[in-house]
This record gives sequence, C-alpha cells and structure tokens, in this order.
Amino acid sequence: ETGNLAPTPPMGWNTWNTFQTKIDEPLLKGMVDAYVSSGMKDAGYRYFVLDDGWMMMERDTKGYLVADPKKFPNGMKAFADYVHNKGLKFGIYNCAGNKTCAGYPGSRGHEYQDARLYASWGVDFLKYDWCNTDSLNAREAYITMSSALKETGRPIVFSLCEWGNHKPWLWAKGVGELYRTTGDITANFSQDKHMGTWTASSVMTILDKQPAIRQYNGPNHWNDADMLEVGNGMSYAEDKAHFSMWCMLSAPLAAGNDLRNMSEQTKSILTNKEVVAIDQDVLGIAAYKIPMADSVEVWVKPLKNNEVAVCFLNRSNHAQKLNIKWGDLTVEDKTTGLNLKLANGTYTLRDLWLKKSSGTTKGNFKQDIASHDVLMLKMVKQ
Ligand code: GLA
Repeated sequence: ETGNLAPTPPMGWNTWNTFQTKIDEPLLKGMVDAYVSSGMKDAGYRYFVLDDGWMMMERDTKGYLVADPKKFPNGMKAFADYVHNKGLKFGIYNCAGNKTCAGYPGSRGHEYQDARLYASWGVDFLKYDWCNTDSLNAREAYITMSSALKETGRPIVFSLCEWGNHKPWLWAKGVGELYRTTGDITANFSQDKHMGTWTASSVMTILDKQPAIRQYNGPNHWNDADMLEVGNGMSYAEDKAHFSMWCMLSAPLAAGNDLRNMSEQTKSILTNKEVVAIDQDVLGIAAYKIPMADSVEVWVKPLKNNEVAVCFLNRSNHAQKLNIKWGDLTVEDKTTGLNLKLANGTYTLRDLWLKKSSGTTKGNFKQDIASHDVLMLKMVKQ
C-alpha cells in the first residue's frame, strides 16, 4: 500500500531545537495553546512533535516503552488527546538503534510492539533516528519500522532521520514520507559549529547539499533539510533567508522555536502565507540554483499554473546591488524536460516579503539586497 500522507511537505513544530530533552506536559500544553493563538495553525502548520526525551530510561517488564510519569503525569494518550482536541496532529520520536541519541530505549527488536503502542496513543507522525545502530542496514531497518507502522492500520507519517549518510533519497520513497538529508542544523547562518568530534551544520552548509539531490524531491517523498531555526538567534535577514530557502526547496517545515514568546518579526516569517504557499505548491519541485556574481545566488522554482518563484540570496557580508536582465534567466533540466525561459513573455512580479507588486519583467530590475538577506518574488505570466 502506498499512502498519500504527505502530498505537500509536512508542516509542524518540534521540541528539539529549543528544549532538547527538557520537556514536560505543562510546558508542552502551553506550546500547543500558543501554536493555535500565535497563528501557526492558521498558517498551515499541523504536526506537534515530541522529539527525544519523552520516555523512561527502561522499558517495562513486558517490553513496552513508558512515557516518563514525571514529565507526563497523565500519560501519553492524554497528551495526544490534548493535541488532537486543538485540531492538530501528534508526532513522537524514537530511534532504529538500541538507544536513542539521548540514551533512551531505542526500537531495535521492538518495532512492531512500539508501532502498536504509538497507534493506541493516536500518534500521527514518527521521527525515527539513527543513533546506536552498529551493524544495522539502514534500508532494512527503516523498512522494518515502516512495515510495523503500516501494520497498525493507522495513517502515520514516517520521518526518516539517518542524516543522509545512506542516501535515503535513492530508496526511501514509499518507505517514509520524508528523510533527513544532512546532519543536525544549528542557528548559524554560514559557520558550522564544532563540538568535540561532532559538528552541527550551518544553514548554508545544509543548503549547499540540496542541489545535488533536488531531483529526488516530490509528493510523499521529501528531502528533509532539518528543522527550522527561525527565532532561535540569527538575525532577521538570516531567519528570512533560511525560511525562504526551505520554502524554495519544498522542504518540510518544522518550526523549532518557543512559540509562547515569539517576536513579531519571527511570527511574521513563520506565518507568511504567501511564502508558505511556495513551499506547499502542489508540484513539489525543489528550486534550481543558478549562481550569479559576487556571492549572490538565484534560485528558481516552477509552480503550478506556470507560475514561478525566484529567490535571490545574498551570501556575502555586504549589501549587493542587483541588476537583473530577466531574459538571461533560463532553466533547462534534461532529466525532467523542463525548459523555462523567462525571456518568453512578460511576468508580473510580487515581492513576497514586502507583500507588494514589484512591476514586471519588462526592462531591467534594479534593487539592493542586504547581506544574508533575500529578495523573494513570485512571477505570474501576463
Ligand atoms: C539526532 C537528530 C536530531 C534530534 C536528536 C535527538 O541528533 O538528528 O534531530 O532528534 O538526535 O537526540
């Protein structure tokens, strides 16, 4: 059975980027409430996902996972009900190995038992990690859990998280709906963060891995560029650039900030419906990258109805003056047969961040673009 659980990239919120394992029911109930009151739900976000750290350090005598009663005194079913009662979907985390990345019991050898437990709680989404997997074969391990989830009869989105090491884009279509392509993200624009033997990837490092795998992206099989760091410490321009690029990629959008105290700027980024609509375009085509001069990149994403999204990304440390001749922008892709020549016809331009018209593609287009900022336009043929 091939499902249709994620025809567009899943959108949600995940505990990890802000709270790691420091989660509990009162905190999370507040987050669920804020999810709705902040406008995230209205903007299209649906999943509320508990990452690592929700369970006890040991299984019970029958081998079942146990939600930590200190963190979830009413049990996991009650919390899932709370999420569902707000019109949201509920996600949870485990790992293919013997232990999760934070040392809690992994699913290895308990896949069917765990899947049944999740289904009984009303889980709608499972993120499945890859720590402590020693001799496991990634494809086999993910197929095992995928089969276990399908066997429950409950529709559960399956989110693979083996960091791209086993090229899941080549085999995970039909196994899960999304698969991580890269290591963990950090709230740094272009500097990776080194912590001992472990390195967290900057937003730009993750972005740079995407063009080579863009062709594998599509409905129900999404390249996952990891969760969002919007609102977690980068500048307004950088947050906007990060969010814009994830949308240009048709990447899954999992916010990872504290929803209870978002700044207006953060909120305006995450809930910009016109930008979200680029991510959620039904064609699900990841943008093509066309390098330009002076560390400016232009990314081009074909949309339904022959519309096009274009995003100029200034990676340099100073402002750049854009001077665009639209006729020069051409995207040809032999694998898909795409031949997009913007010289053929005139398009109207809409600036998706300023939320206003920016004229048409007749003549040259001049605009300044700040350091680490983007200019994101939607083009509609006249
Ligand atoms: C790995 C994953 C992260 C997060 C942590 C939890 O590092 O890549 O996204 O789930 O584990 O321990």
